[in-house]
Amino acid sequence: MTGPEIGRIDTPTARPRRLRRSAAMRDLVSEVHVRVDDLIAPLFVREGIDEPVPIESLPGVVQHTLESLRSEVSELVDLGVKSVILFGIPAEKDEVGSQAYHPDGIVQQALAALLADHGDRLVLMADLCVDEYTSHGHCGIVDARGDVDNDATLELYAKAAVAQATAGAHVVAPSGMMDGQVAVIRAALDDAGFPDVAILAYSAKYASALYGPFRDAVDVSIADGGDRKGYQQDHRNVREAIREIDLDVAEGADMVMVKPALAYLDVIRDVAQHVDVPVAAYHVSGEYAMIHAAGERGWIDADAVAFEHLTSIKRAGANIILTYFTRWFAEQA
Ligand code: PBG
Repeated sequence: MTGPEIGRIDTPTARPRRLRRSAAMRDLVSEVHVRVDDLIAPLFVREGIDEPVPIESLPGVVQHTLESLRSEVSELVDLGVKSVILFGIPAEKDEVGSQAYHPDGIVQQALAALLADHGDRLVLMADLCVDEYTSHGHCGIVDARGDVDNDATLELYAKAAVAQATAGAHVVAPSGMMDGQVAVIRAALDDAGFPDVAILAYSAKYASALYGPFRDAVDVSIADGGDRKGYQQDHRNVREAIREIDLDVAEGADMVMVKPALAYLDVIRDVAQHVDVPVAAYHVSGEYAMIHAAGERGWIDADAVAFEHLTSIKRAGANIILTYFTRWFAEQA
């Protein structure tokens, strides 16, 4: 007798491994597919620069000039990408973020140029908020106490929505988390003659520490070390997300969003099971940056992790993903 004695091993009656034997078999039985069609590329356009400016914390992502934005989007369209969402960085910021709704604001210029270039072949979206445009970095008008005044801010959003629609946006995407913002924007668009411009509402948007690199991208630092916890959601809550989603759908949101994505897969799942409108998830800047940073150190295989993240977001129930990996993904596809 050499090793320890072992009992009789029963032959397994079920063998799930049969369906994992080859890549072809795994592809055949896979439950989820990420397609280029599902992805929205977030892009940054900055007023007053002559050359694109790299964003150190978002490798591969730049602040575009109007011209470099146009060539980037043409390349994306050639790669099969169906949608982009624009963020603007104005040359001058002020207390109310007036460049967000100025007819010649940088995003309005970009929308008009991209509409002329691509027409309806590309779904043109504009992030609708004022934080990139305000001197204090908040998403609205700051009152005497230092709080963001909800109802005063709604007027700014209505103006921005009309400016973006006038410039050519197919979809406006309010991200400021003010109460009642979707209703006000819908009414403003309808009154201005844009009943067909859709709203993608950042409905369940959490006050997350994962937006750091984005704030580098749009040159935002919130005044006095402030944060957005007074208007964005607390990460401990999930029922609250359903309440926010219900309100936005009732107010006229055509699509809803959960943001960030990976730390909130449970929220995506609950929302997807709850609503009958398309559900988007934003794989945010910090999520992208973490993959790159660990990949650069050789600690993870960045490409494999990126695929895994995007797949898990769809598996949780999102139909649409906003991701800085869009170009990379389209190049693999
Ligand atoms: C607000 C806005 C933010 C992001 C998208 N829209 C920043 C914030 O709420 O502070 C973050 C996106 C990302 O981190 O990739 N206009």
